[in-house]
Amino acid sequence: MSSEQTLFLGLLAFRVINALILQTSFVPDEYWQSIEVAHNMAFSYGAKTWEWRHGLRGYLYPLIFAIPYKILGILGLDNRIVLIKLPLLIQAVFAALADVYLYKLSSKLSGVRVGRWSLLCQLTSWFTFYCAPRTLTNSLETALTTIAMHHFPWPGYSRKAHWKYLVLVGVAVVIRPTAAIVWIPMVLWHLRMYFHCFWDVFRLYVEKGFLILAVSSIIDRYFYGKWVYVHLNFLEFNVFSGLGSFYGTHPWHWYLSQGLAVILGIQLFPFVLAVKNGLQPTFIKIIAWTVAVYSCLGHKEFRFIFPILPLAMHLSGLYLALLLDVSSWLPCSKSSFFVTILIAGNLPLALYTSLIHQRGTLDVMRFIYEESSRNASLSVVSLMPCHSTPHHGYLHRNISLRFLTCEPNLDLVANYTDESDVFYEDPVAWLNKTYATSSLPSHIVMFDVLLPRVSDFISRNSYEKCAEFFHSHFPRGSSWRLRSGLLFEGVEVVVEI
Ligand SMILES: *[C@@H]1O[C@H](CO)[C@@H](O)[C@H](O)[C@H]1NC(C)=O
Ligand SMILES: *[C@@H]1O[C@H](CO)[C@@H](O)[C@H](O)[C@H]1NC(C)=O
Ligand SMILES: *[C@@H]1O[C@H](CO)[C@@H](O)[C@H](O)[C@H]1NC(C)=O
Ligand SMILES: *[C@@H]1O[C@H](CO)[C@@H](O)[C@H](O)[C@H]1NC(C)=O
Repeated sequence: MSSEQTLFLGLLAFRVINALILQTSFVPDEYWQSIEVAHNMAFSYGAKTWEWRHGLRGYLYPLIFAIPYKILGILGLDNRIVLIKLPLLIQAVFAALADVYLYKLSSKLSGVRVGRWSLLCQLTSWFTFYCAPRTLTNSLETALTTIAMHHFPWPGYSRKAHWKYLVLVGVAVVIRPTAAIVWIPMVLWHLRMYFHCFWDVFRLYVEKGFLILAVSSIIDRYFYGKWVYVHLNFLEFNVFSGLGSFYGTHPWHWYLSQGLAVILGIQLFPFVLAVKNGLQPTFIKIIAWTVAVYSCLGHKEFRFIFPILPLAMHLSGLYLALLLDVSSWLPCSKSSFFVTILIAGNLPLALYTSLIHQRGTLDVMRFIYEESSRNASLSVVSLMPCHSTPHHGYLHRNISLRFLTCEPNLDLVANYTDESDVFYEDPVAWLNKTYATSSLPSHIVMFDVLLPRVSDFISRNSYEKCAEFFHSHFPRGSSWRLRSGLLFEGVEVVVEI
């Protein structure tokens, strides 16, 4: 076995453990845009959010999970835990590949020693640990971007096989159109480098682009039942119409003032010094460009800039390797000093976010699953900010689940308020109205801050608390419409008696 294969197996073992450690939720999309849809594709039940009803998302990504789901279903091995863990393990494979290719890329550009330091920065990165095995298109986009960077025809290195990088970039863009942002400067650079044979390279782009688009369109044609231009719809919604701002806006400098610092963690220091010293200018330019473009979009999230994190890890590794060469002030074993700092600076945050922060919304799903084993005619309503908990994909049981919706104003109705807003305006009035005609749910799930506001409805209909779960030490801010003075946030379940 070659040393590269050994390295891959070691990294795979690391990411598999990484994936199995995750006990917390990060963002709703990791369930609602992936495994929930895959569950629907394989088992014919599972919710589809408005993005799927309006053709904004492609089926290629959930298909990665729907195929194994279907096979497990046919073999009768579709156990709940298997269905929850398998997608994480699939993502772990992508994450391990990204680690290997970051090491190869870094070694190719700056030598094996830098490669090792970059890999160490990547493996200790708390945000990569927290995010890479999650079923998010951002995680796959990050892995594909890193692998494609390695296959990019860097000047001075092997010139063959341009198509490998093109296919990887094409797939990344098809899965998440915003991947194009990172790649626009690289593609232009590629075309300029090969200007002498422009038409040959251009033809390659058209060929591969057409092929990938055709495959993804056929998959969408099959699952939507008609031709849908998901990428155009996605761009129109997120970039041109500004409706994306429905999900919150941040100041333009958010990535610079918080976003980058948070996802880089302690690697921020070597990264900033590498940028200051202008090491590897190409990567600095890509990172600057990507952050600048994302800063112009109203809706900002940490995970959006995840694809540039491995590049930043290369810069950090480069700086650390350089520092080891020149510094004399450190104790004799300089490298173990840096290794210790990297691990000690990241491990607490990685474990805290992966094991403790925001775990209640997953624990409550296990509780509901256990309840539904006792009584299959359970009906659950979740009075939480929309998409707070996973859905059928996390139960693998077709019980009645209802949640407050929060669809953006797609039809441009005047004075539009979504269901969540109407609910939080006056919870009891909403409950009175909704359950005036239909029968009451058997279980209500909510965050503890809501309980006092609905206690009137709860006691009048004789519900009692049957479970509570710890969720977070940091109750969500106003963007989640649940500002509270409580130090701990919990999830409560009440049951009708
Ligand atoms: C799931 O339950 C819903 C509502 O009870 C029902 O309409 C649907 O047919 C069920 N689907 C499957 C696959 O059992
Ligand atoms: C929208 O709100 C404005 C001001 O509050 C009001 O004048 C108008 O009638 C409302 N339009 C509709 C369709 O409710
Ligand atoms: C809800 O209904 C109950 C009983 O009909 C009533 O006493 C209460 O005032 C209503 N609350 C609101 C906010 O409508
Ligand atoms: C199961 O739950 C339904 C709905 O809450 C309830 O009507 C029924 O009595 C329960 N059955 C058992 C056996 O507890």
